[in-house]
Amino acid sequence: MGNVYFDGVDTIYLAEKYGTPLYVVSENHIVDRIREIKKDFIEKYTDVEAVYACKAFFPKEMARIVKGEGIGIDVVSGGELYTAMEVGFPCDKIIFHGNNKSIDELDMAVRYGVGRIIVDNEYELELLNDIAGRYGRKVDMLYRITPGVNSHTHRYIQTGQVDSKFGIPILDGLIFRAIERALNMDNINLLGFHFHIGSQILGNTTYIDAIEIAIDLIREARDRFGFETRELNTGGGYGIQYADTGARKPISFYTDAIMKGIEDNCQRHGLDIPRVIIEPGRWIVGEAGITLYTIGAIKEIPGIRTYVSVDGGMIDNPRPSLYRARYDGIIVNKMDEDPMAIVTIAGKCCESGDILIWDLKVPEVEAGDVLAILSTGAYNYSMASNYNKLPKPAVVMVRDGEDRLIVKRETYQDMLRNEL
Ligand code: LLP
Repeated sequence: MGNVYFDGVDTIYLAEKYGTPLYVVSENHIVDRIREIKKDFIEKYTDVEAVYACKAFFPKEMARIVKGEGIGIDVVSGGELYTAMEVGFPCDKIIFHGNNKSIDELDMAVRYGVGRIIVDNEYELELLNDIAGRYGRKVDMLYRITPGVNSHTHRYIQTGQVDSKFGIPILDGLIFRAIERALNMDNINLLGFHFHIGSQILGNTTYIDAIEIAIDLIREARDRFGFETRELNTGGGYGIQYADTGARKPISFYTDAIMKGIEDNCQRHGLDIPRVIIEPGRWIVGEAGITLYTIGAIKEIPGIRTYVSVDGGMIDNPRPSLYRARYDGIIVNKMDEDPMAIVTIAGKCCESGDILIWDLKVPEVEAGDVLAILSTGAYNYSMASNYNKLPKPAVVMVRDGEDRLIVKRETYQDMLRNEL
């Protein structure tokens, strides 16, 4: 039989045991990626830190794995922070992001003692100063800046340009007013700056451009206010392999370039090298996940195309319809058969745009075959919805031939739980 195994587990066995659609995630893959970061970044350089951007995928079991590997996380909401707290994640290793953190979220962050708050704007700075004061704390923070660079990725996932809802642009002195205010606040400890230029970035030169701009800012902040920047957080965004991108690059492709950029620019301006932080999400978990679907209706429109429909769709993977993301897929029970046909993989939602893969090469397919879509570990489960009142799939973790359920499949009752 030509079945595909994933981290030592037969995918057809998984489809039968847990049903489809099913997210399957390889623990070995996640751990290998984190260890690569430890070896080629954390141990290679002095005074650097890596945190996992948990918005990519964050069931409690993922929080436990990251905690066990000893790196930190970045969160963007009270919900992500709550998940981390549920597994006893060390608070000092948590970084809190977001362009509109609520008062409750900021309160939660200060109360728990989150390690760093990345302040997005001056309104938030005021709120944070007040809340920290109420707890009698001085809060460590960095400013999020928008360096004004173009990261050459889909427009919806670019974030480094000046016209962005995130951060403070390095324009017209806006950032200097914000720095001065932070330096004059009683309950705020400004440590430095953060930028995140976008996601699924395949090159490393945009990071260098952003670093040059950030370090110019660091120099000017020193010259104007005598402010010594202690931390520079360069965000995440490292790309992975999808259908149209080629192989994933090693972490050092990004981090060596980032470190060299920082060292060169600091040297040029006579600055001490700040502590450097990176925040990969997708790079750690994206290729660790696949989604299994069962094929149902097959519709051939002569001379036009063949639609092969599956039992999931944009509810479990909104990325093709949101960003025109391109995925690869395989028929996992027919790996010993040659691809014969080009088909379009359609989801089951009431939307013409609910197409998971355009033009996929497959062997002769029939109802009941199982399709695996690859590289679905990041931003699939975390962005899933209940559109059309479809329950979210279960998540199974696999490792060395063993499988364990980490998130149960939603039931119809689960979906109605909060409805009165
Ligand atoms: N740091 C910050 C401040 C971020 O905003 C993000 C992602 C990351 C780190 C991690 O980025 P990564 O390494 O995963 O690329 N839903 C979109 C991606 C949105 C990313 C938002 N921020 C997608 O599915 O492509």
